[in-house]
Amino acid sequence: MVSFTLPKNSRVREGKVWPKPEGATRLKEFRIYRFDPETGENPRLDTYFVDLDDCGPMVLNALIWIKDNIDSTLTFRRSCREGICGSCSMNINGENTLACIRSIEEFDEPVRIHPLPHMEVVKDLVPDLTLFYAQHRLIEPWLKTDTPEPEREWLQSKEDRAKLDGLYECILCACCSTSCPSYWWNQERFLGPAALLQAWRWIADSRDEAIDERLDQLDDPFRLYRCHTIMNCTRVCPKGLNPARAIAKIKRTLTNRKA
Ligand code: SF4
Ligand code: SF4
Ligand code: FES
Repeated sequence: MVSFTLPKNSRVREGKVWPKPEGATRLKEFRIYRFDPETGENPRLDTYFVDLDDCGPMVLNALIWIKDNIDSTLTFRRSCREGICGSCSMNINGENTLACIRSIEEFDEPVRIHPLPHMEVVKDLVPDLTLFYAQHRLIEPWLKTDTPEPEREWLQSKEDRAKLDGLYECILCACCSTSCPSYWWNQERFLGPAALLQAWRWIADSRDEAIDERLDQLDDPFRLYRCHTIMNCTRVCPKGLNPARAIAKIKRTLTNRKA
């Protein structure tokens, strides 16, 4: 039977309000999702005040400042701090984005930070991306060829190389897939915009010789056709990519193949 209320242990409660830093004159309030499955307690929203005069300009700086100065147990992923690795994706004031490339000033107070939506939470702001990576693995993101390998590199014309622009830049941050309603409800079967953009990246590669095999893999009512062109994915991509267009190109290629 369908249940329209959340189980009691998934309701987010008001958490701890941490003391304001002493002597600070320019403060910004952050409300941050906290959850530790090992405690068995409900998730909660803790309130922190960040001294903007002592902190770098980005939201990731604020998280690191909180961890260093207030609460060392706050858990989040980050690595490159310049929008390259995709680790620091999270939901900030309702928007999936990368904490390291968004300025604190952009967000109204209190800045509310949650993990990427509709994913299991490992701890605090860290979602479980196991399925997301398995879907990436499923599209076989490597060059597949029958022709014997050349002695040097596989050559490609400038025009063919340009067809990969807007695709190869994907950093697998999962902002798009976790903003897609079709993915929320069918993530066991729908591959989602990130994996499908990657799938198109290999279909569009002039050097690849497994295009039919790749298309066969995708020609499925759920894997591909659960995309209903809602466009959340394209709106939210922090790298300015267009997964919805890549998905449309896969659909068109499949239609042309059948014609
Ligand atoms: S398409 Fe954009 S939002 Fe989606 S995983 Fe790649 S970089 Fe992230
Ligand atoms: S365009 Fe397709 S993949 Fe993108 S958000 Fe909409 S349904 Fe999801
Ligand atoms: S820390 Fe690498 S993208 Fe933000």
